[in-house]
Amino acid sequence: MVDRADVEAALRGVIDPELGADVVELGMVGDVIIDGGNVVVEIALTIASCPMRDQIEVDVVRKVAALAGVESVSVQVGVMNDEQRTKLMERARLRAREHADPTMVSPTTRVLAVSSGKGGVGKSSVSVNLALAIAELGYPTGLLDADIWGFSIPRMLGVTGERLAAGESRKIVPLHVAGLDVVSTGLLLDDEGTALMWRGLMLSKALQQFLTDVAWSDQLQYLIIDMPPGTGDVQMALSRMLPQAEMVVVTTPQQAAQKVAARVADMARRSHMPIVGVVENMSWFTTDDGDRYELFGSGGGEELAIDLAVPLLGQVPLDPNVVAGGDEGRPVVGEGQAGPAAEAFRGIAKRVIELVPPADQDTCTARVAVLAEQLETQLAG
Ligand SMILES: Nc1ncnc2c1ncn2[C@@H]1O[C@H](COP(=O)(O)OP(=O)(O)O)[C@@H](O)[C@H]1O
Ligand SMILES: [Mg+2]
Repeated sequence: MVDRADVEAALRGVIDPELGADVVELGMVGDVIIDGGNVVVEIALTIASCPMRDQIEVDVVRKVAALAGVESVSVQVGVMNDEQRTKLMERARLRAREHADPTMVSPTTRVLAVSSGKGGVGKSSVSVNLALAIAELGYPTGLLDADIWGFSIPRMLGVTGERLAAGESRKIVPLHVAGLDVVSTGLLLDDEGTALMWRGLMLSKALQQFLTDVAWSDQLQYLIIDMPPGTGDVQMALSRMLPQAEMVVVTTPQQAAQKVAARVADMARRSHMPIVGVVENMSWFTTDDGDRYELFGSGGGEELAIDLAVPLLGQVPLDPNVVAGGDEGRPVVGEGQAGPAAEAFRGIAKRVIELVPPADQDTCTARVAVLAEQLETQLAG
């Protein structure tokens, strides 16, 4: 059985994109009614016609539904009175002053952690091509290689010779490559092939440094993270640092869906990360004659999606261009080669954007200004 504390912990991952803080911290959460597996959450918005209303509602449902034991979630939306609004603005200001969020990733950036039950399923290939396909649609996108020891992003993007440099206030500046902002341990190596600053660091600590010491652009609308294979510790650390993070799960057709599902569901539950959906990779191979062979069996992705009760975001066929592109630094999406895998990645990107729409940053700035003005008037009067 969930209790209010569980629900609040999950709601810490719901960020008001306009105010840049989570709904619990902003005092927007009212009553939480729990009846067995059914949860009703009362959310008080600053104004009824809040343009971010849909997004907040959807995020509340997704975050709370990710809790074990929750069967249904509904949101009751209310509107704050003047007094509540004043309090909220004070909190938002206090937060801005205290820099309560030490990570450099903007709270309005959507964060997608590409994870899997085990390695070798194509996590890095999916991360790179998904990031490129989202950027291709016009959204400023970052790509963080969180596979600290097993990094492969620099090779896949053909930038193994490049190194990251420090910019203003000694923050590391991401590498701009193929329209993406990219950070990887592989871009921090010294002559001996050791990433100097990361030596001896624990995985979660290294991830923390990537989030706090890198000058990620405020304008990033999506940050794709290629997660290290593992038991979920890094997922937990990530969701603590970036509560808006959500998981995209990669699997292959032959993986025993139930086993993977159990592991992934456990990761999601412990980290309060909602699962956006499943990507099935290496689904089939089509010969030049058009014959389709399911080399690794079939159904793994769909079964996993059903077990996790999330959508199957797409199936990526086996495509020799993925291997060659990855080795030569010319990924299939972007300026690389066309082909069946590239098309699949583009379809997956569209689906992801539907499910996790970008936060509207222009509205955000405009509305914060209006609220600040209201507050000034109230305080003066
Ligand atoms: N759809 C695909 N078609 C052909 N080869 C693929 C495909 N996806 C991944 N690969 C290859 O499989 C290997 C493992 O992929 P990778 O993305 O590095 O997996 P992971 O990051 O999960 O370890 C790489 O050599 C990659 O080029
Ligand atoms: Mg990898």
